[in-house]
Amino acid sequence: MTVPKFALYENTETALGKSRAEVVVIGTLQGEKAPVLAPGAEAVDAAFDGKLAGLLATLGASGKAEEIVKLPSLGKLGADVVLAVGLGKAVDGTVTPEQVRRAAGAAGRALAGTARALFVPSTLDLQAAVEGLALGAYKFTEYKSEPGDAPVSAVDFVQPAEGQSRAHKATLKAATAIAESVIIARDLINTPPNDLFPASFAERAKKLAEANDLEYEVLDEKALKRKGFGGILGVGGGSSRPPRLVRVSYKGPKAGKKVALVGKGITFDSGGISIKPAANMDNMTSDMSGAAAVLASVVLAAKLKYPLEVTAHIPLAENLPSGSSYRPGDVLSMYGGKTVEVLNTDAEGRLVLADAMVRAAEEDPDYLIETSTLTGAQVVALGNRTAGIMGSEEFRDRVAGIAQATGEGGWPMPLPEELRADLDSKLADLANVTGHRWGGMLAAGLFLREFVADGLPWAHIDIAGPAYNTGGAWGYTGKGGTGVPVRTIAAVLADIAANG
Ligand code: BES
Ligand code: MN
Ligand code: ZN
Repeated sequence: MTVPKFALYENTETALGKSRAEVVVIGTLQGEKAPVLAPGAEAVDAAFDGKLAGLLATLGASGKAEEIVKLPSLGKLGADVVLAVGLGKAVDGTVTPEQVRRAAGAAGRALAGTARALFVPSTLDLQAAVEGLALGAYKFTEYKSEPGDAPVSAVDFVQPAEGQSRAHKATLKAATAIAESVIIARDLINTPPNDLFPASFAERAKKLAEANDLEYEVLDEKALKRKGFGGILGVGGGSSRPPRLVRVSYKGPKAGKKVALVGKGITFDSGGISIKPAANMDNMTSDMSGAAAVLASVVLAAKLKYPLEVTAHIPLAENLPSGSSYRPGDVLSMYGGKTVEVLNTDAEGRLVLADAMVRAAEEDPDYLIETSTLTGAQVVALGNRTAGIMGSEEFRDRVAGIAQATGEGGWPMPLPEELRADLDSKLADLANVTGHRWGGMLAAGLFLREFVADGLPWAHIDIAGPAYNTGGAWGYTGKGGTGVPVRTIAAVLADIAANG
């Protein structure tokens, strides 16, 4: 899916006259007892003789976050419908960008079936409004014979120029590109595993690389064998659809820092011989969310022309049980020479990631960001919406701060030294699991740390919960792939471009 067509108007009166929108979206704030109109709705209110807030209250509106109330315009406006979306409570007279993003997302969902809408809350963060609308409007209907109401196809925004119209245009362009990249990730995640397997993911990465002028390289199973990628080959051995390692690279104008991205690309995780229980195993179609996110992030870096070098390394494998599967008890010889004793074939992500991280470090990057649906323990510790962020302390904290600022969320997590010994192996350099369940997210982080080059600032973002929404839609997040942490990575790249 693509994003709606967006346009800017400088004031509400002109927009109401010219926009040809069927629906006018206004914002409401949660007042003491009744909803309060968010700034920008004045001209709409005037058409209702100043009675709009009262009408909404009569209809039961409160202005609470994501509330949707529609009322007919009864010929008072060019548009047939006024849609009021709740922003929630303003704090000190302001709402946060994330409140705007979620409200715009709820509006985007409610606008399905509408051709054109006009969004009038004009003092709100334009970037957040555009991102929220585009992402809220997203639907994945590739596999539906009857796709239902189409997403809204055009949205006009009111944004007073005040000498800033060039900046507003740039904001609109950036927000559109960011939403498009999140959607690239969501589409990949939502594609079922019978159609998205290592070779087909690699093909889709190739198409994106070609369309965006990126360097592309793929190692097939023969090349992986020749070069000694024992982790990827071990995990991918059980499937008739062999593994791949994809490298997609962007080099910006005046490229400054070099950033390596690594994303877990298990196109389906059955657990392998250490097979998972049947319940909810279908959710493991999302076990390539990290891969989707880093691919989408390189595309975004190119679209926004960041003055950086950004390279995604994407290990792709399908974890299945069969006569050719790797076994508990096997010792894998990883890329770079370390050996790993496999005690549980369901702890496969760290094995493919380790190979890719060692490969990534060969190019001597300034930063390494790796993201993966790595552990159920992440979901136990932090829930479905908060990623666990580990790594070298300074960079970890920087990434976590940015994750929170984007609204995607994320929390810094430790790598406790005492857990490291539990990964010691009787046979090899390292075991892939500790043999107990305590601190499972952290143990996986400690495993990965063994494969990070000395002194390289790195962040590991465990997105097992946030990558895939198995509940109902909320804010700008529908069911299925969420695209987390594309916006976080984008913001980290922007921060590195600005501050080194
Ligand atoms: N892909 C799973 C982690 C996961 C679980 C992601 C739930 C999203 C939702 C991963 O490969 C896995 O199976 N991890 C094991 C590790 C264990 C064997 C040490 C887990 O978390 O149970
Ligand atoms: Mn697994
Ligand atoms: Zn997995």
